[in-house]
Amino acid sequence: MDLPIEIKRYIENELNTISKNELQNNAKNISLNYRTNEGEGKRLLKSQNEALAYAISRMPATYEAVYNSLKHSIEIYNPNIKTMADIGAGTGAGAIAVNEILDIEEIECFEREDAMRKIGKKIFDNYYNISEKSNWNKFDICKDEIAKKYDLVVVSYMLNEISNDKKDIVVEKLWRICNKMLLIVEPGTMQGYNNIINAKKKLIEKGGKIVAPCISNECKLPKNDWCNFSCRVQRTKIHKELKEGNVPYEDEKYIYIAATKDEINNTDKKRILRHPMIYSGFVKLKVCDENEIKEITITKKDKEKFKVARKSIAGDLI
Ligand SMILES: C[S@@+](CC[C@H](N)C(=O)[O-])C[C@H]1O[C@@H](n2cnc3c(N)ncnc32)[C@H](O)[C@@H]1O
Repeated sequence: MDLPIEIKRYIENELNTISKNELQNNAKNISLNYRTNEGEGKRLLKSQNEALAYAISRMPATYEAVYNSLKHSIEIYNPNIKTMADIGAGTGAGAIAVNEILDIEEIECFEREDAMRKIGKKIFDNYYNISEKSNWNKFDICKDEIAKKYDLVVVSYMLNEISNDKKDIVVEKLWRICNKMLLIVEPGTMQGYNNIINAKKKLIEKGGKIVAPCISNECKLPKNDWCNFSCRVQRTKIHKELKEGNVPYEDEKYIYIAATKDEINNTDKKRILRHPMIYSGFVKLKVCDENEIKEITITKKDKEKFKVARKSIAGDLI
């Protein structure tokens, strides 16, 4: 599900005040910054032009990653979520994704960088579906406290920016302000996966129950292996120019963890870990269940399951 077209148009036509060259350079710098400064707690997006380039080049993908992570999570557990906080909200991708799926009444965005907040607020003020119920706050998760609690707390693509020695403290903080569910989304890199696995351990230690994507508390993947999921992001003309590519889409790799304070039971499910191998009379799936990671084969004889398996993608339940 794409970032709403009204938002894409607004960002690309109304907000975009800089030349293509400048936009391209900023987008390149952002991507280099993210590749080389993981886990160091540095400020990676400071200027207005960087924030704009982020909104154009990265926001459609982070939106899609949060959208898919939440969709998968509420398939397992869907409490009555009415209030949400987006921490490290950037330009608001996470909050917009949640608001497209759930019937949210109150949205609070918390973001450290003035430039990101300014763009995010403009986007929200100009999107009919979100402007009335949202609020933006200047906030540093490493220094500031939030007194309130929210049904859902979303943190997308932020944990990897926090210095490694503070990540656990940040996860505990996020857990404290969450009433029903905490959703953390990270880039689908090995480091992103490690951040998620460490966050998962911390949340279980604090009494959290894992909603998705993991079926078991203990990760069954061998050392040096990791999992991620992928979602397809449609590229607009300007997006293609920025990325200097002709393909009309890009695949965003992401990983996430959703945890709750309530009891849940998901142990009869299996999570598909890799893209299904489809043959003429059967489908092979690599899945993760409560006990192990294994390959299962679903044949044509099992008509209904076969139909589902053929259409499934990594990250789905079976
Ligand atoms: C890669 S962006 C992700 C933005 C948005 N969540 C998304 O998914 O598109 C990371 C954001 O986290 C913010 N951030 C990083 N460290 C932070 C901190 N200590 N407190 C609050 N925000 C922080 C950055 O300013 C940036 O806007």
